[in-house]
Amino acid sequence: MLNSTRTTSLNPLLEGLRPSPTLAMSMRMRERAAAGEEVYRLGFGQSPFPVPEEVVQAAVAHIREKDYLPVSGLWPLREAVAAFHQRTSGQPCSPEQVLIGPGSKELIFNLQFAFEGEVLLPAPSWVSYAPQARLTGKQPRWIHTGAQHQWKLQPAGLEATCEQVGDVPKLLILNSPNNPSGQSFSPEECRELAAVARRYGLLLLSDEIYGELHHEGRHSCMAPYYPEGTVVTGGISKWCGAGGWRLGYAIFPPQLQWLQQAMSSMASETYSAVSAPIQYAAVNAFRGSQSLDDYLQASRRILKAIGQYCYRELRQAGITLPPPDGGFYLFPSFESCKGRWKHQTITTDRQLCEKLLDETGVALLPGSDFGCDPASLCARLAYVDFDGEKALQAVQNGHIQPEDAAFIPEYAPLIQQAVQRVREWTMP
Ligand SMILES: Cc1ncc(COP(=O)(O)O)c(C=O)c1O
Repeated sequence: MLNSTRTTSLNPLLEGLRPSPTLAMSMRMRERAAAGEEVYRLGFGQSPFPVPEEVVQAAVAHIREKDYLPVSGLWPLREAVAAFHQRTSGQPCSPEQVLIGPGSKELIFNLQFAFEGEVLLPAPSWVSYAPQARLTGKQPRWIHTGAQHQWKLQPAGLEATCEQVGDVPKLLILNSPNNPSGQSFSPEECRELAAVARRYGLLLLSDEIYGELHHEGRHSCMAPYYPEGTVVTGGISKWCGAGGWRLGYAIFPPQLQWLQQAMSSMASETYSAVSAPIQYAAVNAFRGSQSLDDYLQASRRILKAIGQYCYRELRQAGITLPPPDGGFYLFPSFESCKGRWKHQTITTDRQLCEKLLDETGVALLPGSDFGCDPASLCARLAYVDFDGEKALQAVQNGHIQPEDAAFIPEYAPLIQQAVQRVREWTMP
């Protein structure tokens, strides 16, 4: 007789693994909305903007492409990504250095899998890095940052951790502009962190998926500061509004060709290649055009206006948070409200988020999902609950400027209501 415990046994690496908190939150939102309850979707970080029309048209034109494409990606796409990277970072890049994958998330996982050693993560960090590390059998080591440093990793903190870890290979994952903090590294900060990375021979994965969404268009890529040890990842999910298309890339320096080859072999035994029509369409996205530049310019101005509005309103209510400079997230800490608000039973960020959702309909994600201490009462706010297509059209037609006072009430009314509800909820 078949032993049922044997047929149902789970890989121990999967024990305790929950659905990604962002996806779980998005499901909870849908349930609330279906039950007719009010919801403000500030929990899930999806681009509010449509895929640019010319990129959509390119996908439609190539829908009949049905053959498997090369494992590392369609050659014209690798050329376009290399040129894009060179244009945006100033760092020379050849198509051979580019690996295309089904979203940068999968590439980040595969890199963690291919790497042997310690994984170092600043806290806070994007929700999926740590579970991915655990799936590959590694326990990530957190490097705590603080509100006083805008949640940015400090060179001294990195150095101290490298000393503690000692002489084993180390992988550091950085993300700028940052999810969850909305903060970006300046060129000087990149230089200082790169100096430490070089001194300790770190493998540096620089996740730059929000690079094009730096609000001033001044993203600093990590690779020029530490070219020999940096892998840059990115894709079309955020700046091109195409998260569901599942296309990302990783760029390797020649010194890390062994890693690129290993990841390419993994790809050949797992996902094979990214969907063909999507790869053809992405060529247009990365080649760029005047209309894509206009789209990006308008997207950045809209995000900046909404991000600054949320920041100002929350700060005036006594909530601690740094002003955002890229992407579409804020990372408020409610710790300063503790002494004066009526929610005295709240001691953890999860309780905070649950109570906030129940009492106001506003969904945030607890900071502990990002590696923070639950008692610091941090939460991530994604300011994307607005009609990006409508806002983009209005701004591009010159109907309104994102900086106009009427913009937020007219084009981001749910965000305005949500922020006002959070403010009121934190009052004494
Ligand atoms: C910081 C960060 N990195 C990576 C990803 C994954 O992006 P992709 O859609 O390319 O897999 C996300 C998506 O939310 C993200 O926020």
